[in-house]
Amino acid sequence: MAHAAYVFDAYGTLFDVHAAVRKHAEKLGPDSQRLSSLWREKQLEYSWIRALMGGQYLDFWTLTQQALDTAFALVPSADKSLRDDLLNAYWKLDCYPEVPQVLTNLKATGAKIAILSNGSPAMLEAAVSAANLGDLFDDVFSVDELKTYKTDPRVYEMVTTHYRIYPDTVSFQSSNRWDVAGATAFGFRTVWMNRTGMPDEYLDLSPAAVLNDLSGLQALG
Ligand code: LAC
Repeated sequence: MAHAAYVFDAYGTLFDVHAAVRKHAEKLGPDSQRLSSLWREKQLEYSWIRALMGGQYLDFWTLTQQALDTAFALVPSADKSLRDDLLNAYWKLDCYPEVPQVLTNLKATGAKIAILSNGSPAMLEAAVSAANLGDLFDDVFSVDELKTYKTDPRVYEMVTTHYRIYPDTVSFQSSNRWDVAGATAFGFRTVWMNRTGMPDEYLDLSPAAVLNDLSGLQALG
């Protein structure tokens, strides 16, 4: 077995965060992509700022709602009456097409398969079950247990503490370059899913490998 555990970020890595807006793109009009990007950017910004403050934790679902309200305020052309539809869609985001097969193959190696995410437990449970991935995960780790957010090293440590393994026996996959930086700093073997051809960042905290999607993961070992 190449790694004792394969641990995945959720949003952007397994689940397509832009699927919610895409579902309602026509009704949202020409600025729908901008709305989606701002929604995601603000959601992440709120998580980092609250983690830095310490003691001001609000769960990821609350931040997701606040971020959407800000995105609507910044994109006046988008119809605010779609707020509830977009929020409902976030509970059943599409998973990327290669995900079920890749997880099935990795699970067959005997490795532990887990999610490590900023998402609240309820959000993650809903996303996993909507994508029919429930049988494939040994564990779903949520930051909610710690009341902080990535890239606090204690978040990555949840995995090594739970499985009683060393960080370098964990392969961690994320499409978020900043999350890869945090996981690399902690000591995981990291793989960056650069799904959208983004430029490299955090050059002193490089991933072990870069893939376009998850399908090349098993070949890496
Ligand atoms: C997560 C966010 C960062 O799932 O994508 O943790």
